[in-house]
Amino acid sequence: MRAVKVDHEVAGGFGLGEAADPVPGPGEVLVRVAAFSVNFGEVHGGPDGPGTGRVPGSEAAGVVEAAAADGTGPAVGSPVVTLGADGGWAQLRAVPSGLAAPLPAGTDPGRAATVGVAGTSALRAVRRLGDIDGERVLVTGATGGVGRFAIQLARRSGARPVAVTRRPERDGDALRALGAEEVVASAEQVEGPVRGVVDSVGGPQLVAAFDRLCEHGTLVTVGHSSGDDVVFPYGALLGRPGAHDRSLVTFFLLSTTDLAPDLTWLATEVDRGSLDPGIAWRGPWDDIASATTALLDRTLHGKAVVDIT
Ligand SMILES: NC(=O)c1ccc[n+]([C@@H]2O[C@H](COP(=O)([O-])OP(=O)(O)OC[C@H]3O[C@@H](n4cnc5c(N)ncnc54)[C@H](OP(=O)(O)O)[C@@H]3O)[C@@H](O)[C@H]2O)c1
Repeated sequence: MRAVKVDHEVAGGFGLGEAADPVPGPGEVLVRVAAFSVNFGEVHGGPDGPGTGRVPGSEAAGVVEAAAADGTGPAVGSPVVTLGADGGWAQLRAVPSGLAAPLPAGTDPGRAATVGVAGTSALRAVRRLGDIDGERVLVTGATGGVGRFAIQLARRSGARPVAVTRRPERDGDALRALGAEEVVASAEQVEGPVRGVVDSVGGPQLVAAFDRLCEHGTLVTVGHSSGDDVVFPYGALLGRPGAHDRSLVTFFLLSTTDLAPDLTWLATEVDRGSLDPGIAWRGPWDDIASATTALLDRTLHGKAVVDIT
């Protein structure tokens, strides 16, 4: 099959080539991929990045080519959106049947492919905040993939989102359009208590956001885009009068393989325009270097959608 593979010799770090067809396990479906989504985290690489020749890609959508041998999951011919650790940037992909979610007929696979990691993570995080109707909810990394979904999902739950972005003057209007009620440059600037926090930045932002939680408030830490260590000052976890009982929740998305209902719901909402994943680039896969280089030098903000042509 044809696939995009890690190739450190080419601009952007990825090139189109040949790869072995995946062999699905008994509980896996084989999917013919029509489109996939590219996130900054997947092209970032660095010392922990994927090795040469590997086929990356967590988010892809297409049509089931072969159903799972154990009878689970969608049938042959079903349009699906898929999620996995890698292998999505290819003509064929094998995924556990619980990570191949059926799509309504006619769903744009490119739009559906945008929900995999960021959408499901944000949905899970917002759910963990509990009842947030009418409450202030702080979202760090608000312009990122997770942050954009978290703002919109919190708003839909009746919350009053407070968005944190390093550049409020540039991104404020767009974040307000997504549902943010306030836009600030750092969690330190947030005045007054918040009921919940969805943090994808980590480091000092997490520490300051945790400090803003009210009694029974919850901070869900999704990621660590800043790369900074999280260091709580002495006594910070004991809180203050009226804010002693607070929770800090962690999770790793792919530790579960039953995300299909969430994937279907998110993809359907994105396809009908009720959720905006922030698609900033869309093109054919022989032009993937345009997307990966722009993501790497941070001139492209948002998601790149790649069509397999
Ligand atoms: N737990 C899990 O299973 C799970 C699932 C999904 C994602 N994650 C993690 O969650 C994090 C966010 O993912 P994402 O897809 O939303 O990332 P993203 O699209 O790259 O967005 C990250 C955002 O963080 C902000 N940021 C603040 N300080 C930053 C810094 N020093 N360097 C870079 N960005 C900074 C940026 O917003 P501004 O420029 O506007 O400030 C940026 O838009 C990543 O660490 C990812 O690995 C974890």
